Amino acid sequence: MALSAAALAEEIQRRRTFAIISHPDAGKTTLTEKLLLYGGAIRSAGSVKSRRSDRHATSDWLEMEQERGISITASVLHFEYQNFSINLLDTPGHQDFSEDTYRALTAADSAIMLLDNRKGVEVQTQKLFSVCKKRRLPIYTFVNKCDRIGEDPLRLLDDVQLELGIDCFVSTWPVRREGRLVGVYDRSCGKVWLYEEAADHGRSRPPATLVHLESDKLATAIGSEGVENLREEIELIEIAGSEADFDAVARGEASPVCFGSALTNFGVDVFLERFLSLAPPPSPRETRDGIIEPAAHPFSGFVFKVQANMDPRHRDRVAFVRVCSGEFEEGAEAVVSRTGQKLRLAQPQEFMARERSHADSLAVAGDVVGLLDRGNLRVGDTVALGDKIEYPGVPRFSPEHFSQIHIEDALRRKHLDRGLRHLAEEGTILLLFAPSITGPIPIVGAVGSLQFDVLLDRLQREYGVSARLEKLPFHCARWVTGPDNQIEKVANAYGRRRVMDTDGAELILFDNEWTLQRSIEQEKDLTFHDVQPNTSADT
Ligand code: G4P
Repeated sequence: MALSAAALAEEIQRRRTFAIISHPDAGKTTLTEKLLLYGGAIRSAGSVKSRRSDRHATSDWLEMEQERGISITASVLHFEYQNFSINLLDTPGHQDFSEDTYRALTAADSAIMLLDNRKGVEVQTQKLFSVCKKRRLPIYTFVNKCDRIGEDPLRLLDDVQLELGIDCFVSTWPVRREGRLVGVYDRSCGKVWLYEEAADHGRSRPPATLVHLESDKLATAIGSEGVENLREEIELIEIAGSEADFDAVARGEASPVCFGSALTNFGVDVFLERFLSLAPPPSPRETRDGIIEPAAHPFSGFVFKVQANMDPRHRDRVAFVRVCSGEFEEGAEAVVSRTGQKLRLAQPQEFMARERSHADSLAVAGDVVGLLDRGNLRVGDTVALGDKIEYPGVPRFSPEHFSQIHIEDALRRKHLDRGLRHLAEEGTILLLFAPSITGPIPIVGAVGSLQFDVLLDRLQREYGVSARLEKLPFHCARWVTGPDNQIEKVANAYGRRRVMDTDGAELILFDNEWTLQRSIEQEKDLTFHDVQPNTSADT
C-alpha cells in the first residue's frame, strides 16, 4: 500500500542504517547481540560460541543465525528500538573479506567504530575507518571491554585523534571502583548511570539508576575518594576534551565517544540511545545526474551485494538492494540502469534461519530489500522507478592473489564455468581470462586468500565440482587504460601478464609491488586503476 507523502517522510525519518567497523575480537558479535537484546529481537544474550576455525568462511551473523535460530537476513539485521527502525548491516570480521565490508559501507548512512580498550586503533580499524572517511560517514565510537582495566581513556582518545585524524569528544566516561566498572558518567546531563551487576553474566539488561554527582548512592558505590577522582577526571575532560560539534560529526570529521562493556552491558544502553539520536536518517544521495532526496523521489536503490544459492533448494540468487528513495512498491516496473532492462519488483524476500519467506513489512529509503534474481542484477546496479538515474558504482578492488583453476573431471567443465560466473557476479572472486592459443584460460583473483577456500568449498557444495588451484606468481594487479600497443609492451615484460575481466576491462598482473610502481612511473600514456575504472566514482 502506497504511503502518503507525509507518512513516507515520517517513516524515512525513523530509519537508522549503519554498520559496525572493528578489528576482529574487539567485540562486534557481542555488541551486535546486545543491540538485538535491547531491540527485543532476542530474549536473552550469551551462548554465541564461535568456532573460530569456521568463522572466516561464513558471515558472523550466519553463524549466529545457525546457532541461535534468530531471525536475520544474510546481509542486514532489522529491529525496532523505541521509535527507531534500525538496519544493522553485516560486515564480515576477517580482513580477507574486507571487500564485502567496503560494499556494506556504501549502503550505510553511519558507522559505529568499536575499539578494544586495551588495544585502541588496530590495523583493520584503520583500514575500515579510511573507507568511512572517504564516504564522509558519521562515525560514533564505542570503547569496549571497559570492565577490564585498559589504556588510560584520555590517552586512548589522543591515539584515536592522532592515528585517524578525527576529533573525539567524550559523550560518556567510565566510572570505576577499585578498577571495577560500576557505571558511566553521562556528559550530556552531568549525571552518572550506575549499573547493578546481574547474576546472569550479561544475558539480560542490567538495572540502571541515574544519580547526581552529589548523591549518596554514588558515594556508596565508588566511595568519597572515588567521587573526588571522578570530579577531577570530568574537569580534565572539560579542559582537554573537545566540545561537541555535531556539524563536524555529520561530516565525519569528529566522533562522539562512549565507554562501556558489551559483555556486562554497562554503558550499552546510553551509547545506543545517544547514537540513535545523533545518527542521521537516510540523507540525499548523489547520482551521476544530480542529488536524489529520499522522500521526494519514487523508489530507487542500488545493489550492494548479490548472494547465490542462499537456500540450496532454490537455485537462484538474491540481490540486496539498499533503498535510497521512496517506497518499495511490489508489482511496479523498475528499470535497471546499466542494461536499460525492465524489472518487475516482485515480493521482497526475508530470511529466517535460512528459510526463505516473503517479507510483508514496509520498505522505504534506508531499508534493504532482497530481490530474487535470475542473473539480471549485479553489484553496483541501480534499480529505479521513473526517470533513469544512476548511483555511483560499488567499488571493485584489485586482487592480490591469483590462481589458475583445474578440474579432474573434464565433463564438469560446464558446471565449473557456471559456478565461476555466479561467484564472480557475487563478488566472491574476480574472474579473469588470459589469452592463449587454445582459447582464454580462466584465472581467479581474490583480495584475500581465504576467498579461495570459500571458492573451492562452494564449487564443491553448490555446483558439484571438485577443483584444484594452482597458485600463480603474481601479487598485485591494476586495471589499465590507454593505447593498446603500450599495454601490450608493458604486459610482455618479465613477471607480468595481460588479462581481461568479465566486463572486458584490461588488467595487468605484476609479480611484485616494485615492478608495478616502476611501470606506473615510466608509462605516462597509461592510467593504472586500483579499483575497476567504471565503478570508482564513489571512492
Ligand atoms: P568480534 O566479533 O569483534 O570478533 O568479537 P567477539 O564479540 O566475538 O568478542 C571477542 C572476545 O571478546 C570474546 O571472548 C568476547 O567474550 C570478548 N568480549 C566482548 N566484549 C567484551 C567486553 O565488553 N568485555 C570483555 N572482558 N570481553 C569482551 P572469547 O574469550 O574469545 O570468547 P568467549 O568464550 O567469551 O565467547
